[in-house]
Amino acid sequence: MKLRYGMVGGGQGSFIGAAHRRSINLDGQAELVCGSFSRDYENTLKTGEELGLPKDRLYKTYGEMAKAEAKREDGIDFVVVVTPNASHFEICKAFLEAGIHVACDKPLAVTAKQARELVALAKKKGLLFLVTYTYMGHVTAKHAARIIASGQIGRVRAVMAEYPQGWLADEHSDGGKQGSWRIDPAQSGGVNCLGDLGTHVENAVATMTGLKIKRLLAKLDVVVPGRVLDDNDYVMVEYEGGATGLYWTSQVAIGHDNSLRVRIYGESGSIQWFQEEPEKITVIGKDGSLTEHHRGYPTIAPDAAKYGRLPSGHPEGWLEAMANLYLSFMQCLRAKKDGSFKSDMIDYPTVEDGAAGIEFVEACLRSAKSGNVWVDVP
Ligand SMILES: NC(=O)c1ccc[n+]([C@@H]2O[C@H](COP(=O)([O-])OP(=O)(O)OC[C@H]3O[C@@H](n4cnc5c(N)ncnc54)[C@H](O)[C@@H]3O)[C@@H](O)[C@H]2O)c1
Repeated sequence: MKLRYGMVGGGQGSFIGAAHRRSINLDGQAELVCGSFSRDYENTLKTGEELGLPKDRLYKTYGEMAKAEAKREDGIDFVVVVTPNASHFEICKAFLEAGIHVACDKPLAVTAKQARELVALAKKKGLLFLVTYTYMGHVTAKHAARIIASGQIGRVRAVMAEYPQGWLADEHSDGGKQGSWRIDPAQSGGVNCLGDLGTHVENAVATMTGLKIKRLLAKLDVVVPGRVLDDNDYVMVEYEGGATGLYWTSQVAIGHDNSLRVRIYGESGSIQWFQEEPEKITVIGKDGSLTEHHRGYPTIAPDAAKYGRLPSGHPEGWLEAMANLYLSFMQCLRAKKDGSFKSDMIDYPTVEDGAAGIEFVEACLRSAKSGNVWVDVP
């Protein structure tokens, strides 16, 4: 039996909702059965019609959807939340309270208090919670984490990570539908660029290295005149155990699209992982040897390689990475249903990982507002 899911957000004219639907479809394990795709009910009706959904499962509000689906015999197994950031908390909370598992896009929430509440609620209800930090679904990103955990590059000493984009560089454009809410504090929260891109950087480094940030110093800049939220950020971090890192995120870096790049330097080697070339990672030894590990070859760790769907040379990309997160999430959901679930089956970013991203954002805000000083991260 296929799992059943519903979606909040992802109406016509939106970006990421359709990408989630395509990724979930890759493995054919779940079927979209309902939605509240927009605050505009006409859009929800049009989107639902296009997707072949019955009208009685197209809801005016997410609250109505959570209650109605929880009551149905054939109700959804999980909900996918793909709305602007400031609404994530209330929507996720409504579905958790209704006893429904949640997949939510990043950033998890806009305050650490909200994030902690979601962590506690998911735990209390015994529900699974995927936060779709898409990039960490790449086979090569998983492999990077396995290399570091194996000790191949030794103890990590330093990290350089960046995620520059250029799409909001123009001072005469707010970036259209996708940009206008990101630069609006009412819909985006206390940060723009840092929430959108900085959380990806924080999560990528944490996932690959396992390092926990102890303290940080942030400079969050508004480059384009007239904006109130950051569009270019620098963060210096110090991890528990003494390693250090430098993160840069930007939406005004003309020439860059989605240039998430992570370089990790250990005692005996380093690795380089670039999301726009996700089919390989580069490992450099202290003897100067430079080795590329390509997806599809036996050098890739088996528990990362197992997510590959195509032979090497048939490139996999962003949709496959997202599908990999959903694949693990859906395997865990099935195991929950048949009673075989164990927490070590989880191979996707959880609500705790999402909350770590919001603690990072809040610490950056505290640092920036206090005059760019070092602050502890809880
Ligand atoms: N994982 C990634 O790499 C990635 C990439 C892009 C966006 N995102 C995240 O996805 C989310 C959505 O971003 P987007 O670019 O698709 O935005 P978007 O503006 O294109 O789409 C948002 C959708 O949510 C709908 N919506 C808003 N409030 C709603 C409500 N209360 N009920 C139902 N629908 C509602 C809007 O009508 C729209 O259809 C954001 O949190 C963003 O950070 C993640």
